[in-house]
Amino acid sequence: CGIVAYVGSREAYPLIIKGLKRLEYRGYDSSGVALMEDSELNIYKKKGKVTDLESQLNGKQLKSTIGIGHTRWATHGEPNDVNAHPHFSNDHKLAIIHNGIIENYASIKQNLVKKGHVFHSATDTEVLIHFIEDVQKETGASLEEAVRLALLEVVGAYAIVVMSVDFPDQLIAARKGSPLVIGIGEDEFFFASDATPIIEYTKDVVYLDDYEVAIIRDGKLSIQNLDNTQKVPYIQKLEMELETIEKGGYDHFMIKEIFEQPRSIADSMRGRLRASDAHLQLGGLADYIDELAAAERIVIVGCGTSWHAGLVAEYLFEELARINVEVEYASEFRYRNPVIKKNDIVIAISQSGETADTLAAIELAKSKGATIFGVCNVVGSSIARATHAGAYTHAGPEIGVASTKAFTAQVTVLTLIAIAVAKRKGTISEETYQQLLNELEGIPAKVEKVFENAAKIKEIAFIFTYVRNFIYLGRGLNFPVALEGALKLKEISYIHAEGYPAAEMKHGPIALIDEDMPVVFLATKDGSYEKIVSNIQEVKARKGRVIAIVTEGDTLIPGMVDFVIEVPEVHEILTPLVSVIPLQLLSYYIAVMRGRNVDQPRNLAKSVTVE
Ligand code: G6P
Repeated sequence: CGIVAYVGSREAYPLIIKGLKRLEYRGYDSSGVALMEDSELNIYKKKGKVTDLESQLNGKQLKSTIGIGHTRWATHGEPNDVNAHPHFSNDHKLAIIHNGIIENYASIKQNLVKKGHVFHSATDTEVLIHFIEDVQKETGASLEEAVRLALLEVVGAYAIVVMSVDFPDQLIAARKGSPLVIGIGEDEFFFASDATPIIEYTKDVVYLDDYEVAIIRDGKLSIQNLDNTQKVPYIQKLEMELETIEKGGYDHFMIKEIFEQPRSIADSMRGRLRASDAHLQLGGLADYIDELAAAERIVIVGCGTSWHAGLVAEYLFEELARINVEVEYASEFRYRNPVIKKNDIVIAISQSGETADTLAAIELAKSKGATIFGVCNVVGSSIARATHAGAYTHAGPEIGVASTKAFTAQVTVLTLIAIAVAKRKGTISEETYQQLLNELEGIPAKVEKVFENAAKIKEIAFIFTYVRNFIYLGRGLNFPVALEGALKLKEISYIHAEGYPAAEMKHGPIALIDEDMPVVFLATKDGSYEKIVSNIQEVKARKGRVIAIVTEGDTLIPGMVDFVIEVPEVHEILTPLVSVIPLQLLSYYIAVMRGRNVDQPRNLAKSVTVE
């Protein structure tokens, strides 16, 4: 979910709506705002997108210089008008927005029902604000004190902002496990789930930490811990630029982000790699390369696309640095009793740096004494802070829900780490080391070259727009790319797609192949080329329709398949960085042709801060 709040002298409503649109990637099944109009606390909410809320409120005079707003990704309670946030307290004097989950809401609710509280929604959030109201009444405490006392009883994760009709210049916010940024302007304050709603007003921000409560009162910000100790706000300067979070002439963020990859890949290497003098250093990990080189095992945790980047890294660390690697879904890892030995290292991969399962996996690994490194895109995010050290991917804000440039940046950074460790261990020759650095520097230009095929990929997308299934096959480093290609298609076009290791096809999926089944083969020139050619023949023999991603100049495969898309030749180790690009484009064009909401596919959210 995304939250925005404002107090100051501007009109709060337009500012909040604009902010919610920026945060919509975090959830978009309903939205709402609470405003103070003529000393009345009013809530407006609506199922659907922020624009649905906006059209409902069109023409209304919404005058308020304080307000809170929310865009939701449903956890408790189906997405409808009633379950949308903000929620009122029992007496309608308080309103709350919340991102996260209150796990013990049921027992709190039971007590409140006994005391006569009436609930209108099925949400845990409504329970929380009734609870705050109850604490306030029972103890006679101030609002901020009531919030603090209530939160001490709460089990779960939250970022909240509360406003009250009795204190029309106050906002109380708190976080545990869900992100919250405070923007500090001149006599005005902003709260948001990330900095995007804030940057056009101020660059001075404070990232609230877990267990902190922020209070805006009398035009001042104060922060205290849940245990009631005061904290001095640590003000940071935002480095984000406004244009990075706008579409800049593209139809969708996703296509903008796909086309940004030559730059984002270069950005992820900037200052770290210089082939001309064989320089390779990742600032954040420089002191840990020995520890990595001494690792007996690396455990990689992540979710979704980040997990796929982990699978690529598995090959890289094994091949280059001869380190045994296990890649785990964070959600599985966290509920097992994983064996972590003394010399094991955990690497957590996350674009947002906020994924709840990944964060929990880190905490578990930490409790077992592991050293944990992060590969995150969002600077200052919870995962970046929870890890011992790490390397940012520097891909810039990724807004399309389907991850594209974050994936290639993750793979780039993981490649840099693997090469640095291999160099330290001496498991690659000087010659290979130099060659890999040279090749890496050339990757942005090669990705650019893949774009020359965009029109052709669009034609292929047109032909396959209305199929119901897709299979993606690859081997070696192209196996995770097959998984990623299938995931992209599923996410944004809602076509069922499966990624498989090409050779495993004969153990099951081959039964699905007939003249209606499109099969995407990742068939670039690498160690398994001959084998892939045989797999293609197996599919063609069963009349499957084959789209092959091949290396430029391949003369064999084009004669065997229905469609080919060429990618430039790269060092085998770097293959995923170019072979994934046509798959991103293919899924994008198919989704557009199917009329899907590419940037905000149904049921998904970009940053999943609940488990
Ligand atoms: C969500 C997103 C995916 C993403 C995954 C992991 O499901 O929709 O695109 O890959 O979370 O997110 P993270 O921010 O941890 O990389």
